[in-house]
Amino acid sequence: APSKLLIKGGTVVNAHHQQLADVYVEDGIIVAVEPSITVGDDVKVIDATGKYVIPGGIDPHTHLDMSFMSSGTIDDFFSGHAAALAGGTTMHIDFVIPVDGSLTAGYEAYERKAKKACMDYGFHMAITKWNDDVSREMEIMVKEKGINSFKFFMAYKGALMVNDELILEGFKRCKSLGALAMVHAENGDAVDEGQKRMIELGITGPEGHALSRPAVLEGEATGRAIRLANFVNTPLYVVHVMSIDAMEEIAKARKSGQRVIGEPVVSGLVLDESWLWHPDFRTAASYVMSPPIRSKGHDKALQAALATGVLQLVGTDHCAFNSTQKALGIDDFRKIPNGVNGIEERMHLVWDTMVESGQISVTDYVRVTSTECARIFNIYPRKGAILPGSDADIIILNPNSSFEISTKSHHSRLDTNVYDGKKGKGKVEVTISRGRVVWENNELKVTPGTGRYIPMQPYSYLFDGLDKKDSTYLSSLKAPVKRAKSSS
Ligand code: URP
Ligand code: ZN
Ligand code: ZN
Ligand code: ZN
Repeated sequence: APSKLLIKGGTVVNAHHQQLADVYVEDGIIVAVEPSITVGDDVKVIDATGKYVIPGGIDPHTHLDMSFMSSGTIDDFFSGHAAALAGGTTMHIDFVIPVDGSLTAGYEAYERKAKKACMDYGFHMAITKWNDDVSREMEIMVKEKGINSFKFFMAYKGALMVNDELILEGFKRCKSLGALAMVHAENGDAVDEGQKRMIELGITGPEGHALSRPAVLEGEATGRAIRLANFVNTPLYVVHVMSIDAMEEIAKARKSGQRVIGEPVVSGLVLDESWLWHPDFRTAASYVMSPPIRSKGHDKALQAALATGVLQLVGTDHCAFNSTQKALGIDDFRKIPNGVNGIEERMHLVWDTMVESGQISVTDYVRVTSTECARIFNIYPRKGAILPGSDADIIILNPNSSFEISTKSHHSRLDTNVYDGKKGKGKVEVTISRGRVVWENNELKVTPGTGRYIPMQPYSYLFDGLDKKDSTYLSSLKAPVKRAKSSS
């Protein structure tokens, strides 16, 4: 028998509209969104009176089951998904890391890792080397494997870092394939220099992480990536915008009409760097991520940028390492695996920080946590909307109930939580993943293997009309000067 579900009496919110309506779901797909739908008694009914019925969160930036800095992230495609669903996120896009420079091998490895998925997922891919094979494989990824975005790391010297030559080749290839170029923007050479400086000064603890890679290095790399993307005339997506410096580069470029997307992450919006000075190494190390969490003031400025549309969507960069793994850097902050949690906490913290505080509306909340991600990566309105025909990834949020984050009760495998003790208004009471109620009454009901891969098509709205700018450029060039072959 088909699975049927009716959500009754709630306020249904999409990015551009909200209304009092019922939502009827059959076999994982939304069939109707209308006032007063009546159904037979074979249909499960959930009462959402006084609550918001909104599209499940889409996290554009995660690292599940990733090998990184001689460790592996401890949340895999099952535990990471369970945590996400308990916090109202029903889809994420993870970064495939190539294996020995091979994109195909990397893709196949992530395909295997994701077999235990219990929510829907998509992939970005990192580009860490350049040669003809990589260029060819990028086309296969876009045309056959459903990947429409590639990330270039401007930091992590000696590991993932790429130089400007590779960035230019990569950006040109992205443009020709209709794929979105993404950057981790920090000046990796200068970070390396800053790290040596700290070690020479005897600063070997987690605070050295913040001191060695200041915001100016993030601003420089962000500005450079933006200018190179402008030179190639291709859209750019800046991941984990952590500083005013980077945000202002994005603001300036967008104001001039350039297609640049800026993604703040939850840690940058709600935390500050003082944790890195905590006397307990275990605590301090749990906050080490790159770019670093900044000093007080950057958080509020990033919130304001999100509220005013300078930044467009919120990710987490969920990249979970246990305290035993973080202890690899007990004598040297450079060896602390970089990354913090957030896949479970994002929806609650963005609600509390942005909506409960009055900085954004509920429709804007839906846009920055779900819809904009779906639009950018070209899966809207299958995802990111509550409309007839959309996948039934839905959450019910009670604005009058409250949440409390704790390492003891979270669903991640982490033995720490950078948001431990945070509480606030607004609670995700029900999560529905493609029509299945997977989170209700504070209980998870998840099964490995029920999540599906969501392939993503190239040429999202960001590419629309770009070729006009190319032809304007070409026609603006003056004809070459005709010179005599030899002069006397
Ligand atoms: O510290 C971080 N951000 N770890 C994950 C890898 C990345 O740079 O996104
Ligand atoms: Zn990064
Ligand atoms: Zn060219
Ligand atoms: Zn990341």
